[in-house]
Amino acid sequence: MFENLNEQPADKILELMQLYRDDPRDEKVDLGVGVYKDAEGRTPVMRSVKAAEQRLWEQETTKSYVGIIGDGAYNAAMRNLILGASVANDRVSSAATPGGTGACRQAFELARLANPGVTIRVSSPTWPNHNSIIKYLGIPAVAYRYFDNATRAVDFDGMIEDLKGAKAGDIVLLHGCCHNPTGANLTVDQWSVVADTLLETGATPMIDLAYQGFGDGLEEDAAGTRHLASRVPEMLIAASCSKNFGVYRERTGILIAISESAAAAKITQANLGFLNRQNYSFPPDHGARLVQMILDDEALRTDWRAELEDVRLGMLKLREDLAAELRQRTNSDRFDFIKDHRGMFSRLGATPEQVMAMRESHGIYMVGDSRINVAGLNARTVPILAEAIVAAGV
Ligand code: LMR
Repeated sequence: MFENLNEQPADKILELMQLYRDDPRDEKVDLGVGVYKDAEGRTPVMRSVKAAEQRLWEQETTKSYVGIIGDGAYNAAMRNLILGASVANDRVSSAATPGGTGACRQAFELARLANPGVTIRVSSPTWPNHNSIIKYLGIPAVAYRYFDNATRAVDFDGMIEDLKGAKAGDIVLLHGCCHNPTGANLTVDQWSVVADTLLETGATPMIDLAYQGFGDGLEEDAAGTRHLASRVPEMLIAASCSKNFGVYRERTGILIAISESAAAAKITQANLGFLNRQNYSFPPDHGARLVQMILDDEALRTDWRAELEDVRLGMLKLREDLAAELRQRTNSDRFDFIKDHRGMFSRLGATPEQVMAMRESHGIYMVGDSRINVAGLNARTVPILAEAIVAAGV
């Protein structure tokens, strides 16, 4: 029967990882997959994670199952990290998931269980795997305008005009912060207009929050999510700990749902447990437990926050350096958007041909839509990228 299988479309980000590995040039620069790297190009285990891991090794006495939604304390700590006091706790339900991708997948499935005719509205562009999973599940997707390729900023008027076309029962997928792939984000005032529009249409927001702490700060990056949580009757949040705790391979995420009432939240909670059981049963525990230990221990949490802040400020500095370098080389401010963007990514607005030219001439690997991972840069490679951008005529 396997002869009936067809080739699957290559995932652009994973494909790029392989192309980079296969390039023999020493001076190649990896600005592809969204993994944080320090100035030496390493993705370190965070200090607090190492400390928690050591403690866990000493204290853990069993590897028996935990629970179908994961550890209760992990769920509580993550809800608090993301939602703060924005919504009554008895309206919130949640389940641990394998990474943020697992949370997205479960969210789409929950939406389809609740409304078999659901349409998911996605930003244009969005993380390619959003579209891929939605398509795989056979759920209709409709794109709303988001990024203005000319200004490299959010096309907010276009976005709101398109979101007005959403209907009750639709899901509107939003990036909580650090928009992937563009780096262009909503302001606090714009989040408020988005909430107004969602309330007018009756559509349900779903937030993908994969980079909390990478943009303007831990609290600031949750502000849009919290604003919506305080205003809408129902909402989904798919969050990842891969980046802000650096636990990529541990697959640590959470799906949070806000229901209209405490009674409805109980049913939602049961559905989250049901979906976990159907798809993979118990979610992975190791990464979740480390995250919970860090969040619930004052000393570990303080150290984690400090290290995360250093990571964030390092990326901001790289943005400033790259924008300054391009200002000088082009005698213009047309690349200043790089320092206005936030998070790991910026979409440069280069054509696929220009992206290829930069790869060929300078060994620079970025996603074909000209998304760069800013964390892949360092003091040595900032001028190389700037030179390549100018040489390619971006
Ligand atoms: C990315 O966008 O590069 C990251 O979210 C990693 C991934 O899984 O695609």
